[in-house]
Amino acid sequence: MRILVVGSGAREHALCWSLAASPLVKEVLCAPGNAGIARDARLVPIPADAIEELVRFAVAERIDLVVVGPEKPLVLGLVDRLKEAGVRALGPSARAARLEGSKAFAKDFCRRYGIPTAPYRVFARHQRDAARAWIEAHGAPIVVKADGLAAGKGVTVASSLEEALSALDAAFAGAFGEAGATVVLEDKLEGEEASLFALCDGHTALLLGTAQDHKRAFDGDQGPNTGGMGAYSPAPVLDPAMVERVMAEIVRPTLAGMAREGTPFCGILYAGLMIGPEGPKLLEFNVRMGDPECQVVLPRLMTDFGQLAFGAVDGVLASMSVRWFPTHALGVVYATRGYPGPTERGSEIRGLETLEGLKDTLVFHAATRRENGRWLADGGRVLTVVGTGATLQEAHDRAYAGIARIDWPQGFFRRDIGWRALARPASA
Ligand code: AMP
Ligand code: GLY
Repeated sequence: MRILVVGSGAREHALCWSLAASPLVKEVLCAPGNAGIARDARLVPIPADAIEELVRFAVAERIDLVVVGPEKPLVLGLVDRLKEAGVRALGPSARAARLEGSKAFAKDFCRRYGIPTAPYRVFARHQRDAARAWIEAHGAPIVVKADGLAAGKGVTVASSLEEALSALDAAFAGAFGEAGATVVLEDKLEGEEASLFALCDGHTALLLGTAQDHKRAFDGDQGPNTGGMGAYSPAPVLDPAMVERVMAEIVRPTLAGMAREGTPFCGILYAGLMIGPEGPKLLEFNVRMGDPECQVVLPRLMTDFGQLAFGAVDGVLASMSVRWFPTHALGVVYATRGYPGPTERGSEIRGLETLEGLKDTLVFHAATRRENGRWLADGGRVLTVVGTGATLQEAHDRAYAGIARIDWPQGFFRRDIGWRALARPASA
């Protein structure tokens, strides 16, 4: 089988690495990928959102399966177009991708099917006065969310009325383009955040893994929000009983509801959760793997991911199961200084070769290029270094030992990835 992975981040590197190890897979291709991914896949110079070009390529190359990493091509309908052209693809249709592409759609969907989530109201731009009045009546804290895709920047957890009103005004004034033309206002939930990933074939969902991300740029959860600065898997707060509750109260009702509405969900469903005193509540759905969560979820899989991916697109997950290594994985993101703001490209990263073949240590590239035998940084998030081990502490120590071998003065990373889980009494 020949598989095309779409995307170019460390998430896609982990997908390529995992698929390249599958006995079912003869060749992995990645569009557009990056220089680090080129070690595990053949690069195809097509951008991830060039839908028609990707479809033409997949047909011409007789690709057996397309695995889509990021949300944008999913929302743009890449999977629909591939299916029309007779190419199998792991990922939801554009209509099913609305679970991520429209927070108002997701919230209304949760209401229709009794899926636990924060109480909310939806307002469109022409209802600005009503939205302001609702915020004033509700009071702070309150959460203001742009409806559409806003690259992780569309959510404000406001602790004062002023903050909430200015977030509302910014969204309606176009700070997130059309993504902010509609907003969701909702109650702030208390608890511990965690994510659960389920592989879905339209009717059956199998747990792929759980993780916790670190969204802020700096140690101690300080600084601006980012795409994610590190993660570990499994998430201790999602113990087996809590996982079963999330599957029963959130994931399976979602699959059943989507099928009932004629938009069955095939692909990876990412449930962003708040685990509070009443149990799990949904913060948001994403319709893809997380980044950096993917880099710590896939290394724990014992079951062949290639087989699972084909099982999902062929609709046979009911006859399959997932097994894991009894390990923990922890990943640290190494980013160019200045991220998540604008960053300089082209600084040299030394020492990467000293990590090759290192036991229980993996390096996934998010944005690198190769020039005259040197590795150069080529974006904001540049690498994820992952350690695995029998305990989270061991995984942590291996990841940071890996990081220590890298000589890159223009880069930075958080030194406290895993702090919450490591501080738990029984985190091993
Ligand atoms: P989302 O994109 O909806 O996951 O929101 C981004 C982040 O905002 C989440 O990871 C949470 O940290 C926070 N957040 C979103 N909704 C809520 C909520 N209702 N209560 C508390 N925090 C929230
Ligand atoms: N790490 C968060 C995300 O992928 O959405």
